[in-house]
Amino acid sequence: MNKEKKVRAYTNIALIKYWGKRDEKLFLPMNSSLSLTLDSFYTETSVAFDDSTAEDRFYLNDALQDDKATAKVSRFLDLFREEAGIQTAAIVKSTNFVPTAAGLASSASGMAALAGAVNLASGLNLDKTTLSTYARRGSGSATRSIFGGFVEWQMGTGSDDSFAVKVDDASWDIGMVTIVVNDKQKAVSSRVGMKNTVATSPFYPGWLTATAIDLENIKTAILKKDFEQVGAITESNGMKMHATMLGANPPLSYWEPDSVRAMQAVRELRQLGVPCYFTMDAGPNVKVLCRLSDSQTIKNYLSNIFDPTQLIISGPGKDIEEITD
Ligand code: DP6
Repeated sequence: MNKEKKVRAYTNIALIKYWGKRDEKLFLPMNSSLSLTLDSFYTETSVAFDDSTAEDRFYLNDALQDDKATAKVSRFLDLFREEAGIQTAAIVKSTNFVPTAAGLASSASGMAALAGAVNLASGLNLDKTTLSTYARRGSGSATRSIFGGFVEWQMGTGSDDSFAVKVDDASWDIGMVTIVVNDKQKAVSSRVGMKNTVATSPFYPGWLTATAIDLENIKTAILKKDFEQVGAITESNGMKMHATMLGANPPLSYWEPDSVRAMQAVRELRQLGVPCYFTMDAGPNVKVLCRLSDSQTIKNYLSNIFDPTQLIISGPGKDIEEITD
């Protein structure tokens, strides 16, 4: 058995959303997207190729996983095994770290950490850009979790150039408050939801046109460190994604009454002079982009509506990194 190497990857929240694939097998997206990596949510994973086991074994938070979950990991490992000429089965141990029992396990940090760990264990030692093309094949949003800060996933023309690029390390006054409205598994996965939206929403072409413009504008705003502009574009782009999925057949909505209440509270905070902006993904939770120096003020205000355990402050996360115990 080779020496166990553990890798940590942080999750990311898209400010410009990825919603739709042009190639399902290769996970090639319909549009480029851009995210902020967060330091409060991460996954640590180790991979050890082990002659003593005939089949891959996958432990998540110390519990051996069933065949379905393991098969997903195995298919992903195969991408590396094929490249490295490895036939051996692997033992994969993964732990999700979230600050509360929120259950906000993320496929982005999970697949990025797995990619990072198997990259080391296989001896392939791919550079981060190439590694992001592999992480992509586990989950689209994982592409961006290879890097910290503000990260663009360039849609590319094919598998080799659909990768992540760091736009800015976000080492300025940037943070995010996550409002955990509901921590249950969502009814419609993003994978199914985006597929149906591409296939049936009449708004989809408009979404693609608008998102390309939002992406260019937010990159300019990030480079100028224009927080208000970054926030306004973030909020607008997220709402456009949700509007597009409302137009699908059947209509798709991830909102719950408390999601709407949370968005209203963000508008109230703005009225009070605190610059902050919301975004939502394929679930009811609301993420508030803010200045990190305002995050406690925002949390205090939201505590009038939500339990403090539902409110999680994050700063910008880093690139994936090897962890030594
Ligand atoms: C709304 O990356 O979870 O969070 O590629 O099918 O695994 P798959 O989907 P996933 O979708 C993320 C959708 C989103 C927007 C985003 O993160 O860009």
